[in-house]
Amino acid sequence: AGNKVVIEEYLEGIECSVFVLTDGNSYAILPEAKDYKRIGENNTGLNTGGMGALSPVPFYDKDFAKKTEERIIIPTIKGIKQENMNYRGFIFFGLMNVGGNPYVIEYNVRMGDPETEAVLPRIKSDFLSLLTAASEKKLSNTKVEISKEATATVIVVSEGYPGHYEKNKVITGIEEITDSIVFHSGTTTNNDNTVTSGGRVLAISSFGKDIFEAIEKSYRSVKNIHFENMYYRKDLGTDLK
Ligand code: GLY
Repeated sequence: AGNKVVIEEYLEGIECSVFVLTDGNSYAILPEAKDYKRIGENNTGLNTGGMGALSPVPFYDKDFAKKTEERIIIPTIKGIKQENMNYRGFIFFGLMNVGGNPYVIEYNVRMGDPETEAVLPRIKSDFLSLLTAASEKKLSNTKVEISKEATATVIVVSEGYPGHYEKNKVITGIEEITDSIVFHSGTTTNNDNTVTSGGRVLAISSFGKDIFEAIEKSYRSVKNIHFENMYYRKDLGTDLK
């Protein structure tokens, strides 16, 4: 949009997404996730809205989490207070792990997609109560209970996405999926059929004892889904082994 590009620093590392819910004073840290942005396997090709997500993130260990909270989350909340923003809602910290140290790539005042489809299933606390506590500035008394189970989300897209793709392809097999959660994104109905209506069509999320078991389960579930020109990445998690 502009004529100038300012290069501050080149950060080489691996990304992860960290989410907090804040009432402007206190904050609750939600499960972190890692998304896969490129359309092609081994992180090649065009950037997309996200081709999959995993939670928890193996390199987001106690030390990295502590650094993130002390160096990034706490100063951010402090800044929100100092500037009297009266912000109540989510903060999405897009981080880069550079040699064990977290760097902020981006802030968003929303959850992420497809991270949400991996993060929300792991939140065992009543979600509405969390949102109410944030809106009523009562988050300091709230504890978020997080499942020890891992989740993996595979995004099923229309071939061609994020460029040109065709719509109105009949989707079958959704009702055969019993072991995963199916989130609809680019779908609609046409004559009693579920059909594609967008680039990112479905998000398939599964639980597992670790991310690798969760990934396997999601891939097993995806095998039930059929529509013409369907595509998904088959390499989620291979970079974390
Ligand atoms: N998955 C990245 C985002 O929601 O911005």
